[in-house]
Amino acid sequence: MEYVVLNGEIIERYQAKIDVEDRGYQFGDGVYEVIRVYNGIMFTGREHLERLVSSAEKIGMKLGWTIEELESLFNTLIKKNGIGTGIVYMQVTRGTSPRNHAFPPAGVSQTLVAYTRDMQRPMNNLANGVKTILAEDIRWLRCDIKSLNLLGNILAKQKAAEAGCYEAFLHRGETITEGSSSNIFIIKDGTVYTHPANNFILNGITRQTLEKLCKANGVPFVEKEFTTADLLAADEIAIGSTTSEITPAVEVDGQPVGNGEPGPVTRKLQTLFQQEIERQCGTLAVNS
Ligand code: PDD
Repeated sequence: MEYVVLNGEIIERYQAKIDVEDRGYQFGDGVYEVIRVYNGIMFTGREHLERLVSSAEKIGMKLGWTIEELESLFNTLIKKNGIGTGIVYMQVTRGTSPRNHAFPPAGVSQTLVAYTRDMQRPMNNLANGVKTILAEDIRWLRCDIKSLNLLGNILAKQKAAEAGCYEAFLHRGETITEGSSSNIFIIKDGTVYTHPANNFILNGITRQTLEKLCKANGVPFVEKEFTTADLLAADEIAIGSTTSEITPAVEVDGQPVGNGEPGPVTRKLQTLFQQEIERQCGTLAVNS
């Protein structure tokens, strides 16, 4: 039996019904999060839930559940579904109301949906790296909000998939912003560079964790815009996200990054990141 969260309840997956006029379905009017689970424990769970609250606030929604309530619901869900290594996905929409672009009247309740999925760590990508392409960033100007509207991201990811690649690196003019579903780090002469956390990128929790780890371990970490030319001239490139962890990028648009193999700084970042996972969630099995 698989369970999901619908509003404040944990129910069987196929009992969960959402109205056709839910605003998430009709407008993408809502926000979401993806939290990694290792050894049945949410990794950086607090940070993700705080970002959910903040994304909601940025679109004029005061979340109908507290962080403590959400934590408790998701911990129960993880247990009930027997998740060891996986994810919790959650989304909150502005609720169900007759279709009208303006917000629904006061009193309409938000819709909260959450489910879990078994998902192993991407061991092969972590070890060998992935291929990537460049794509134009056609998204809106509030990429800092983890909004359900992901068309710009989806179209870029599909372009990558059709090119046999894992990720699309987005650029606005000459400036690289982020990946279609990840943050990007370039490494030059031992320094890690990433786009500043402003409205052009999602301030990833992986990115924030990595920044803290770099600062605590003497790895130079700089938030600064960089260009496609800088990206192509980088010694190493790494991709960071909840599901990808710290994945090396070894090719961009068919050109090798550095010598075409994951580099030493990326390996160090991976080690620091894995140590942080193990500190929060316990020892990881060798292959999961
Ligand atoms: N994506 N930038 C974008 C556009 C993203 O969609 C994501 C995450 C990130 C990295 O954020 P974090 O480190 O908090 O996962 C950056 C998630 C995993 C997704 O949509 O599935």
